[in-house]
Amino acid sequence: MYDLVVVGSGVAGLTAARWAAGSGLAVLVLTKGELSHSATRYAQGGVAAALAPSDSPDRHLADTLAAGAGLCDVDAVRVLVNEGPARVRELQALGAAFDTHGPSGEPALAREGGHSLARVVHAGGDATGAEIERALVASVRAQPGIEVREGWFTTGLRVAAGRCTGVEAVDPQGRPAAFEARHTLLATGGAGQLYAVTTNPRLSTGDGLAMALAAGAAVADVEFMQFHPTALHTPTMPRPLVSEALRGEGAVLRDERGEAFMASEHPMADLAPRDVVSRAMASRMVDRGLDHLWLDATGIPEVARRFPTLAASCRSLGLDPQHDRLPVAPAAHYLSGGVATDLDGATTLAGLWACGETACSGVHGANRLASNSLLDGLVFAPRVAAAIRRGKDGPDPTGVLRDLTPLVPAEPPAPVPASEPPRGSEPEVGTPAASTAAALATLQGALTRDAGVRRDSASLARAAAAVEAVASDPGASAGGRAARELRGLVAVARVLVAAATAREESRGAHIRLDHPSASERFLGRFVAVGGGGGAAVSFAPLAVPQPEAVP
Ligand code: SIN
Repeated sequence: MYDLVVVGSGVAGLTAARWAAGSGLAVLVLTKGELSHSATRYAQGGVAAALAPSDSPDRHLADTLAAGAGLCDVDAVRVLVNEGPARVRELQALGAAFDTHGPSGEPALAREGGHSLARVVHAGGDATGAEIERALVASVRAQPGIEVREGWFTTGLRVAAGRCTGVEAVDPQGRPAAFEARHTLLATGGAGQLYAVTTNPRLSTGDGLAMALAAGAAVADVEFMQFHPTALHTPTMPRPLVSEALRGEGAVLRDERGEAFMASEHPMADLAPRDVVSRAMASRMVDRGLDHLWLDATGIPEVARRFPTLAASCRSLGLDPQHDRLPVAPAAHYLSGGVATDLDGATTLAGLWACGETACSGVHGANRLASNSLLDGLVFAPRVAAAIRRGKDGPDPTGVLRDLTPLVPAEPPAPVPASEPPRGSEPEVGTPAASTAAALATLQGALTRDAGVRRDSASLARAAAAVEAVASDPGASAGGRAARELRGLVAVARVLVAAATAREESRGAHIRLDHPSASERFLGRFVAVGGGGGAAVSFAPLAVPQPEAVP
């Protein structure tokens, strides 16, 4: 019996494991890939934290609320911005080599979209996620009290008497096993693989959300898939990111006539929050019949030296960012919603916790502020460990759970038994069956076409029909990991499309073409409470309206 099973090995999972083991808990980390391979590794820009003398947590709070378009939980954001600076310093002390300036070794700070000043800590120019992952993996490997199992796919949560009691998983050969635990933490990252065009790695398949739904835990804000404005427009997947930090250094978006159009869209021009930029780009692309626009970074001195990850991506396409305008288009990037939690990461199911991109604590609202994602994992993971350590054993009505309290039943709905097809028909890992790959491509194509930045009730109806067609496709009922991931993606897609359909307004990450303005009627969250399907969503108004953002 473990004290804590952590599912996932990105910044949130590894940080939680470190803190839990550090306080004497027996921890098991299950990861479906290698310990060091998660979406964290792909994060370029960095970690936002109020470290500069001219900055303050209140200023970071105001920028986060403004980006969140009315749906942030202000208490959750306060936790994020107040605790963030200490967590960043600790990471530096752990050995994360952030870029510094000056003789005192203070972190050098970059500016990204939606930030009113430079506050983003970075490493290796634009390789921040990889450096953080490296430092955390080294620490987890060296720390006693943490058992790590790599290549293990967690297939479901064990639930008994209204409580999560551990997980079921399969080993790299597909053999099933169960792990009993007093507490279970979902830190499985996002679900960018719902879309054909994404910056997320192949492993971002929404596994934690799907497991939470099947076990009867509430999920919220899932319609808010965020699209990064500047993914490099290449046929490769995941799409290489062109960090917002380039626009922080002066890069500008241009259309086919060379016009720098963001100045006419928002007072912050190219440094507007990313939902504003993606929406402006998507509309311009449709109006002009283009499949991409251009980022002009040629004015940034020594751009290739300062942004080596970008330079490598460009080289592989025969582009030189110092001389060429870069083809860019929005791509699915980050799920702002997730498994609903209180301010300690507790979910509506006792014994089950969530943090990082998997969770919805209320910090991101309808659109996450740039570089608040690594920070989210760094801040909320230690809170999970601390809450377990002090004996907390169920959710409080704080954070997003304060909004959901009237909706969520005291007893969670009965979990849906995992329907595992017979073993042996498909390999556990490796090339998926052709039928599974085809069904996944159908799902991704449908969501990209019909549930992207621009959507309306007709397109969402088409997306819903496509999701159901994939659900009953033989490719989704095959054995092996790829089919399991596909079934999880289908469960998440049902909620995403149902919530997007019900949200008859334009807010944050998306434009509803049939409801082009934001509406006060929708100042709240769409919630799905378990039962496995999760296609039915309910609306929970915000218990405490987000205050007007004061820049
Ligand atoms: C970026 O570098 O633009 C991505 C950072 C983020 O997603 O917050």
